[in-house]
Amino acid sequence: MKIIIHDSTFDSWRTHARSLLEEKIHFDDIVWQASSGGSFFDHVDVSDRKKSSALNIPREFIEEAQFVSAFRDESTWNLLYKLAYRIVYFDRNLMSMALDNDVLDFQRRMKLVSRDLHKMKAFVRFREIKKDDESIYMAWHRPDHRVLKFSAPFFTDRFNGMNWAIFTEEESMSWINNKLEFGPGISQREAEAFDSTEELWKTYYASIFNPGRVKIKMMKSELPVRHWKTLPEAELIDQLIAEAPARLDAFYESQRPSALQWVPKEATLSELRAALPNCSACVNCSRATAPVFGEGPETARIVFVGEQPGNEEDLNGSPFIGPAGQLLMEALEIAGILRSEVYLTNAVKSFKWKDQNGFRKHVNPTASDIAACRPWLKSELDIVRPHILVCLGASAAQSVFGKMMKVGDSHGKVFQTSFSDKTIILSHPSAILRMPNPEEKERLFNQFVGDIVALKDLSDQLIQ
Ligand code: URA
Repeated sequence: MKIIIHDSTFDSWRTHARSLLEEKIHFDDIVWQASSGGSFFDHVDVSDRKKSSALNIPREFIEEAQFVSAFRDESTWNLLYKLAYRIVYFDRNLMSMALDNDVLDFQRRMKLVSRDLHKMKAFVRFREIKKDDESIYMAWHRPDHRVLKFSAPFFTDRFNGMNWAIFTEEESMSWINNKLEFGPGISQREAEAFDSTEELWKTYYASIFNPGRVKIKMMKSELPVRHWKTLPEAELIDQLIAEAPARLDAFYESQRPSALQWVPKEATLSELRAALPNCSACVNCSRATAPVFGEGPETARIVFVGEQPGNEEDLNGSPFIGPAGQLLMEALEIAGILRSEVYLTNAVKSFKWKDQNGFRKHVNPTASDIAACRPWLKSELDIVRPHILVCLGASAAQSVFGKMMKVGDSHGKVFQTSFSDKTIILSHPSAILRMPNPEEKERLFNQFVGDIVALKDLSDQLIQ
């Protein structure tokens, strides 16, 4: 029997599991043990053995296993290794065996972790702590499983414009000046010392409470009583149920990230362009090479608004020069429109991406990214005031209209917006590029060209 001492993190499990699998060590011959526990047996330290590419474990399993590894029970590591072993040496499609006991156990744990993550998102309550002129929002929560890291995308998106920290007994996570960091945990007693006035805490809760959103019965049935103890606002609930939830919207509005404070008032296009790199309304700017401002003459009669710069636009600092931009240029050329006579810009000014095997893969901007960047677009459009405003795709339309618009339903329609009496919505050229079927791709491209020709005709009529 080998005792594997590891630090109960997925990365450490994976490093050990890889070496053990390479050596074909059977799952029944291993016991996984958390490093703090100590051991009477000789333990095997395989953490620095070289990695192998020979093991072919489906990526999906690794991703799900990472999630399941949050399940707070040491037997989880055994289960994950057993499944990995069976996948590698017996059945690559094991995870699709719906009645296999190990698979069922895996799914059960996944469901419980997922439920716990959901609870964390619903029940974390921040308390505002004022320090000098700044506020930091603190929360302490006791999840059943190790879900803190998995909740990071939710909290960074929802509370993007605030500085906050969430503590659990084992670990903590903070978002200070748009930077996410993980650290050690603290006990509930220490957490309470953050704030001597529960009143602040309650006021905060009162400001976000929305009876329509939070189902009290569900809260009571879903949330173990011990969580209620950590919610001083519990005593306010009855009173709050009776009150109107209007403050919720105002609260979220005030917390929403916005570029507004960085956008100079009554500025020219070149002053706006010069001010853009200072903006730190959202985290995307800091991850991009540099934000990409619009390009084209102030007198342009037609404005095209895209979603956000892509990889090439990010590296070169100009909008619409990558593959989607080239397709747009092709359509403009066929319609007899010069790039230099139109104004090209984007709803979001910085390239949002994630790492995928060393490549920067485009990530769609969220509604919050679009709203945060909107003051830049608004200022550009207020200056150019185009005859025709073209929204390329749903993100552009969302920014221009201030709400979600269905691209398909809007085809051929002309809308009046505060920026232009002739606002139209077309598919984004990248949707054409992504189309796998060549005939359908050609049909979409021809339709796109037809739309651009039609808007050129419309523009010509408007100046006659
Ligand atoms: N796609 C966009 O939406 N904008 C660009 O600038 C490039 C690609």
